[in-house]
Amino acid sequence: MRTDSSPQTIFRKDYTVPAYLVDTVELGFDLDPDRTIVANRITMHRNPASKGRDIVLHGEEIELVQLRLNGKLLAASQYRLTPTSLTIPKAPAEVVLEIESLCAPVKNTSLSGLYVSNGNFFTQCEAEGFRRITYFPDRPDVMAKYTVMLRADKARYPVLLSNGNLIEEGELGDGRHYAKWEDPFKKPSYLFALVAARLVCQEERYTLQSGREVLLQVWVEEGNLDKTDYAMQSLKNSIRWDEERFGLELDLDRFMIVAVGDFNMGAMENKGLNIFNTKYVLANSRVATDVDYAGIEAVVGHEYFHNWTGNRVTCRDWFQLSLKEGLTVFRDQEFSADMIGTDTGRAVTRIDQVRTLRQAQFPEDAGPMAHPVRPDSFVEINNFYTVTVYEKGAEVVRMYQTLLGRDGFRKGMDLYFERHDGQAVECDDFRAAMADANGRDLTQFERWYSQAGTPVVTASTRYDVAARCYEITLSQHCPATAGQPDKLPFHIPVAVGLLDADGKDLPLRLDGAPSPKHAPTTVVLELTQATQTFRFKGIAAKPTPSLLRGFSAPVVLEYDYTDAELLHLFSHDSDPVNRWEAGQRLAMERLLVLTSAVAAGDTLALDDTFIAAFRNVLTDDTLDPAFRELALILPSETIIAEQVAVVDPQAIHGARQFMRRTLGTALREELLAQYHANQTPGAYSPDAVSAGKRALKNLALAYLLVAPQEADLALARQQFEQATNMTDRAAALSALIHSGADASASLASFYADFEQEALVIDKWFAMQAAAPGTNVAAVRQLMQHPAFTLKNPNRARSLLFNFANANPPQFHAADGSGYDFWAEQVIALDKINPQVAARLARSMDRWRRYVPALQVHMRHALERVAACAKLSNDVLEVISKALS
Ligand code: PHE
Ligand code: ZN
Repeated sequence: MRTDSSPQTIFRKDYTVPAYLVDTVELGFDLDPDRTIVANRITMHRNPASKGRDIVLHGEEIELVQLRLNGKLLAASQYRLTPTSLTIPKAPAEVVLEIESLCAPVKNTSLSGLYVSNGNFFTQCEAEGFRRITYFPDRPDVMAKYTVMLRADKARYPVLLSNGNLIEEGELGDGRHYAKWEDPFKKPSYLFALVAARLVCQEERYTLQSGREVLLQVWVEEGNLDKTDYAMQSLKNSIRWDEERFGLELDLDRFMIVAVGDFNMGAMENKGLNIFNTKYVLANSRVATDVDYAGIEAVVGHEYFHNWTGNRVTCRDWFQLSLKEGLTVFRDQEFSADMIGTDTGRAVTRIDQVRTLRQAQFPEDAGPMAHPVRPDSFVEINNFYTVTVYEKGAEVVRMYQTLLGRDGFRKGMDLYFERHDGQAVECDDFRAAMADANGRDLTQFERWYSQAGTPVVTASTRYDVAARCYEITLSQHCPATAGQPDKLPFHIPVAVGLLDADGKDLPLRLDGAPSPKHAPTTVVLELTQATQTFRFKGIAAKPTPSLLRGFSAPVVLEYDYTDAELLHLFSHDSDPVNRWEAGQRLAMERLLVLTSAVAAGDTLALDDTFIAAFRNVLTDDTLDPAFRELALILPSETIIAEQVAVVDPQAIHGARQFMRRTLGTALREELLAQYHANQTPGAYSPDAVSAGKRALKNLALAYLLVAPQEADLALARQQFEQATNMTDRAAALSALIHSGADASASLASFYADFEQEALVIDKWFAMQAAAPGTNVAAVRQLMQHPAFTLKNPNRARSLLFNFANANPPQFHAADGSGYDFWAEQVIALDKINPQVAARLARSMDRWRRYVPALQVHMRHALERVAACAKLSNDVLEVISKALS
């Protein structure tokens, strides 16, 4: 039997329009960490599109002080108050509500709503945090104009910020001051933000292409003012890029980025006042790696681009989350690629995206939390900020561009804004804009939004010498997912090319299609049925097919490649993504054989052909170092695990380590040569070329340190000590830790050098957590370190998440100790921060695929969490789906 408090599932099909719409919101805050008073004056009117007459406001963890309707104080009998709502039945058509309530920011460890971080006030309202600040119809289809008055102690909180423009500020006496902000744009409540803090800023006046001048600010704690340049530069680049690529201009006079050390996610696109995890703002060469710099550029871009895709046009309901997130991830991906500018640079970013999909999204799509890009139901919306909604959603947007071309895609974007600026809309509206602007029927394309699971495309080919015709037959199927046993065919763009015996691209003439004067070398086949055959004419000899070029769709592509064909593609494919892919396939085939061999206790061997192919790529100086680095990274243990029927994590680890060791030994001279050839002397620069060199050099070092000679260890120690940037320092330290050599002295000196830099200490924990020599006992030891705390999400992630997700041989220890530890930490974290706890809970998603002996322990750990008396909905949803 369900009790009242058991979590409710919310369904997309149950959407109803709001009964009341809000015109204006005036908020007054008397900020105090223990007792903040929030005065909220809302003018609202009945929605003509609704029959409802009750005003329903959300409210959580706040205390109602008093309530007035059209000037009259309401008695408790005139409204209904529950722990999550405030209902005023049968209200008049025009209403002014005045609500006073209290909250306690310092006690708010969930980091949703109004909270305190390092003594400063911040808010986080997406998805449903505004209701933890005041009573409100906290749903994205209620858009209103906001005015905000902030009052706080001036010495402690000299900076008072909110959305939009500062219209007034002054003194209040008794040491307090105030600031009044007005946001000229209507917005949903999830985009509200305030900051009251002791912070400083780097600021700049910036001229838009239209000639209008805007004020840009990056706000940080005082000691971090030497780490804001890159975020500021990235912001300016983002503004310029959105003008040029999409004709979209910054609509405010002032745009602020604020960094906070305690944050659940990466960053938040609050209107004009983006709040960022420090990880995605702070950088200089001493503390940040190349990967950190790239992350800052991407996230600054992402949040800025939300101003149009998310804020000006927002989501009707949270099921439509990918409308803004998939589109905005696509936009930030394109931005990062354009910032590098070269074709191989673009390809390198694309390969990175493919790796993320395979590492995280494909497993999600095949696991207990599988959901469509536009989910049909959820218990806790916070659990649906997923790689499916974000990264697969971005792939879905990319497919429009692949199908319609860049210009067609731009036309669709233009029409989308023309139709929907200022509205809260659905994924279907975006698809309709793309279709209508291009006169295309995209009805079937809807299935990318409604069907979960990763489609499998199987290719077969036939060459007819006499007819000089090459046939490609493509079939598709999609595995069943929870609640979706049968799937209908998707509309899949499959980009293909054909290579001749010299590795050159053949000109392509598709049978039945008009023949352009200059035949293209890549064509996009549109697979819409279960099976289709495509014929290429005028093919003089049997070619090698390059299928799914550029990873043109988020699918698994199956084709019976011979080793010879893969080697051919690995050396010649003009499509860098497929060139990389051929190497991954060569490696994967062998890794699967090796995994079985490890499990069976057989002797292990790696063929010379494979080693030679890797040697060729490693030493091919015509190839971009960034590309070579990616080509030489073996598929991860997680990705290998997805390819086998029953997962034996120790066997997979053993197989991959064997391959790394064998390559490291066989290519020792070449690795050393590349190590020395790819040094980046002189002043540090995070540009893609320098970063690519460092990546290749540090990958070479890592290979050398799998089975190091004394000279290799010395080389790593020297790099660690003499590094002039964090990329090289961290890479050397990580390689030393992973080598199994005694790294304690290096770890100690690293800690001493960076004790004051929280983000670097996160790396210190993370590197140790992921090292195969770090067992549960060692992680428990690290938790005792004075710098460790579960309360800070970055710190919790650095140690616990890295252990659970990036250290398979130890997490999956045969005695189940890793899982027991996991259960303990999920339960402990849930009491502090349910959102972070639920993310850690997801580490057990794939438990049913492991060898029976491990499954027993995993089930036990899951049940232990499930049996906990007071679980959040967040964790409960994840655990019950895993067990169901
Ligand atoms: N909307 C944010 C982004 O994608 C992510 C976020 C969600 C941040 C929820 C905080 C809370 O940029
Ligand atoms: Zn986003």
